[in-house]
Amino acid sequence: MSVVRIPVELGERSYDVIVGRGVRSELASVIRDRAPKALRAVVVSSEALVSMPWAELETGLSTTVLTVPDGEAAKVATQVERLCTEFSRLELSRHDVIVSLGGGSVTDLAGFAAAVYLRGIAVVHVATSLVAQVDAAVGGKTGVNLATGKNLMGAFHQPLAVLCDLELLETLSPREIQDGRGEIVKCCLLTGMSLGDIDAATSDQLITMAISYKCSIVGADEREGGLRALLNYGHTLAHAIEALQLDGEDLDIRHGEAVAVGLAFAARLARRLGRLDNAGVQRHDDALAFFGLSGSLPAGLSAIRLLEAMGRDKKAHHNLTFVLAGENGYETVSDLNPEVVLSELVNFGGVA
Ligand code: GLY
Repeated sequence: MSVVRIPVELGERSYDVIVGRGVRSELASVIRDRAPKALRAVVVSSEALVSMPWAELETGLSTTVLTVPDGEAAKVATQVERLCTEFSRLELSRHDVIVSLGGGSVTDLAGFAAAVYLRGIAVVHVATSLVAQVDAAVGGKTGVNLATGKNLMGAFHQPLAVLCDLELLETLSPREIQDGRGEIVKCCLLTGMSLGDIDAATSDQLITMAISYKCSIVGADEREGGLRALLNYGHTLAHAIEALQLDGEDLDIRHGEAVAVGLAFAARLARRLGRLDNAGVQRHDDALAFFGLSGSLPAGLSAIRLLEAMGRDKKAHHNLTFVLAGENGYETVSDLNPEVVLSELVNFGGVA
């Protein structure tokens, strides 16, 4: 696949998501074009990635590399303070640029540090995981977790560009690829792709489709006033499962895997509410199976704890909110009856 530039149309904050093999080598020219006054760059990456042979990025500027912990351990407020303190010691100015190099935790953390340091400096994301390429790094959502839930502290801060180097996907484990597929299958369902369409597409085409879909949604509704909430399809239950995991529940589930479970549940909840027929549920199950994803709830989770965690989800606006399929396509449905959701969770394998 040749290099594809997918625009996110946001007026003066517009940018491209650049997708293709080897596109990390475009970093210096992106910085030169988009941040011509920058004198310094700070690359923020995880300890595991920074030692990789491909991780040495050419920014075209005097560059310092800062490392952060791997995975969700990076997404804490103390890391934001640490990074901003380092930026300040390095005397980074408003003209300078942060480069995040990593998966979704790194792009979320570095993006948030860039959003708040000096009230906002430029950031370019070099997304190395499939989840980051098709979702986390695109669209300007940045943030960290609090003890009470995921992504509860953050900011919208659009990058200057996102580089999705497909070559880097070859460095990922099969499980990391599965993780990203949860977000891709979500986009396949939301865009109404048939199983035949999915089967006919190459992996690169599916990735590009998912990124293009997200870019168009973000361009239409940057701040999640309405349309962008559709991207939360499958996420109400996914975030609840992840919140239980953060809270110490003995689980080993990744974001995309949790989204897959959330998609299967959302289809069943829609059926329970008379919004979707059995064939619609089967479409969800078939799509998940195509990508080798399990739509089953991990064993032993308390239905009531999941329900409580859903009520705390920041996207729930203080009531139970799901994106659900229906006659008019997908839409956000609020104020769901907790008893109905609880009973469907029990049908879905939650412990009563
Ligand atoms: N991950 C959902 C969004 O960016 O809106």
